[in-house]
Amino acid sequence: MIQKKRIVLEIGFGDGDNLIATAINEPSSTVIGIEVYRSGIGHCLINAKKNNLKNLKIIYFDAVEVLNQYVPNNSVDAINIFFPDPWPKKRHRKRRLISDAFVLLLKSKLTNHGLVHICTDWPDYNEEILGLFKHIKGFEPVKNILKRTQTKYERKAIALGHAIYESAYRLVL
Ligand SMILES: C[S@@+](CC[C@H](N)C(=O)[O-])C[C@H]1O[C@@H](n2cnc3c(N)ncnc32)[C@H](O)[C@@H]1O
Repeated sequence: MIQKKRIVLEIGFGDGDNLIATAINEPSSTVIGIEVYRSGIGHCLINAKKNNLKNLKIIYFDAVEVLNQYVPNNSVDAINIFFPDPWPKKRHRKRRLISDAFVLLLKSKLTNHGLVHICTDWPDYNEEILGLFKHIKGFEPVKNILKRTQTKYERKAIALGHAIYESAYRLVL
């Protein structure tokens, strides 16, 4: 029997620190990054070449569109979203990526037992995220969160004295 490859998706990977590390650490997985920031993609491609990565795919497009149009349902084993929205102001909250509709979209794309791993440095966003995953049926919080690689945005946030809020959820249908 041919075993389906594990698919790991990272949304808004920035310079790709964690994306590259995932592709290196999981050579038998297909690792897909979605990003709209061109210089981040360039940086990531240089590192992908340096590391001769064959299991990494990069999509330069809006993640919501990609998920809606091109990703089959029940196909992704893990979705990583690290520091998606850097804007703390109240008026920016409506623009945040992680919303009720977005979590439902993630749910439809995950395999059963698939994981979502999220980080933010904004406490109110973290509360909102915790509430969404509690409210949407099927997600269980994960206690032993998988190790990840520190990102560029995270290093800046820590230097500014921000706390890092990290959570992960498993889909159990
Ligand atoms: C604050 S940065 C964090 C980047 C990286 N994850 C890190 O921690 O260094 C957020 C990134 O998400 C990307 N992003 C935001 N919304 C996106 C979307 N809808 N589709 C693809 N990328 C998106 C932005 O272009 C940006 O590079």
